[in-house]
Amino acid sequence: MDASENNLIVEAGFLRALTVLRKMKRNGDKNKMGLNSNKWVRRTSVPGIAEMNFLAEELRKKGEELVNFGQAIPFYPPSREVLKLFREKIQADDIHRYSPDPGLASLRDDWCRILQEKFSLIVDPDTEILITAGANQAYLTAVMTLMNPGDRVGLISPWYFNHAMALSMTGVECVEIRLSEESGYQINPESILKIVDEKQIKAITLVTPNNPTGVTYNPQTVKALAEGLIARGVYLIVDETYAFFPEPGLRHFSPGVLEEHPDMVITIGSFSKTFALTGWRVGYMIADSDLIKEMLKVHDTMVICASRPGQVLVRICLEKAWSWLEDRYAELERRQVILNNYSARFAPWKVRSNGLFFAFIDGPIDGRIAVKKILEERGVILIPGDVFGSGLEKSFRLSAGCTGEPEFLRGLEKLSDFFGNYQAD
Ligand SMILES: Cc1ncc(COP(=O)(O)O)c(C=O)c1O
Repeated sequence: MDASENNLIVEAGFLRALTVLRKMKRNGDKNKMGLNSNKWVRRTSVPGIAEMNFLAEELRKKGEELVNFGQAIPFYPPSREVLKLFREKIQADDIHRYSPDPGLASLRDDWCRILQEKFSLIVDPDTEILITAGANQAYLTAVMTLMNPGDRVGLISPWYFNHAMALSMTGVECVEIRLSEESGYQINPESILKIVDEKQIKAITLVTPNNPTGVTYNPQTVKALAEGLIARGVYLIVDETYAFFPEPGLRHFSPGVLEEHPDMVITIGSFSKTFALTGWRVGYMIADSDLIKEMLKVHDTMVICASRPGQVLVRICLEKAWSWLEDRYAELERRQVILNNYSARFAPWKVRSNGLFFAFIDGPIDGRIAVKKILEERGVILIPGDVFGSGLEKSFRLSAGCTGEPEFLRGLEKLSDFFGNYQAD
């Protein structure tokens, strides 16, 4: 090695040391000053589901076989008949391009016709609907379009955590309206309207059928709440992601039917669960035509349009997948009965609500501790209640739709074994 080579090596070592020192200083400054990013995003906590998924992944890496009662992803694939037709459609050149911002006109036409047939909703497909990249994007778009930082939105808890996150990260004040476990997590329009008046709330978010409790609210109750809000000029943002999975014997009521045009009711929905298309990212939003024009600014900036192949796939589902959906419903209905039959074996834990996709359960110890123990000791993934609002520390959510039936039964056996052998310290 000659002297110049030696010099180069010394120089490289020096530069590396300098970079490390700079990094240390930067990290030190960051620690002292905090991250210089948006304060509302920073105050928003990561979804609780992520933590459970992380723990589950660690166990999977160690070769553990887990039963998934966690994230609400239908365990079954989409209709085979639909997929076969889709394979032909995907050959078209234009499927790879953007669709019009509000979505394919053919999909909007078909969906508005079906909304009228199924839920008596009358929607103008040209001006009152937006096809979105799922219901989550629809909700964030609605919040960004309607709310100013500091405005108040009433969120009924147990809530869908991404709604709370959307409000938190846009600087909106979330007013938590807690439902009680004794009422089986049913809503009481009078007490909600009282809070609306007291707190000067600008919008209420309602999820029916509900995630995380699985409860389908009674149509008369939803109607009374919606009428009270409309009379006050308060927006109702209703998330109907599970509209096709009401509890047996109940029908889904879409409060948008109360208005000739959707002035105060914003209806959000999804094709993710209905047709088992969670990965395709297609949902929708119905609102007043002037609001839709405003929403289009947010929508175009966020995603331009929903996935075009996804929209084509949904359109085929609308034509071909209704009897397939009936079979899926029957399958989930059987699960609900099975879980009901198991509930006596869960003592001292209690099943507080048991819908088609979700059950909400509480017990004698902290739900997060229980969920971690159940995952580590029995290999069953559940979601702790504190993710869904305050006062839910002893609860957890069981998602019934993400496993096949044998696995579902295996999971329930493991849970009853854990609960049955539980000894208070
Ligand atoms: C109530 C609710 N809204 C929205 C979503 C998200 O739906 P999408 O996949 O259409 O974004 C979910 C998914 O779990 C949900 O439970």
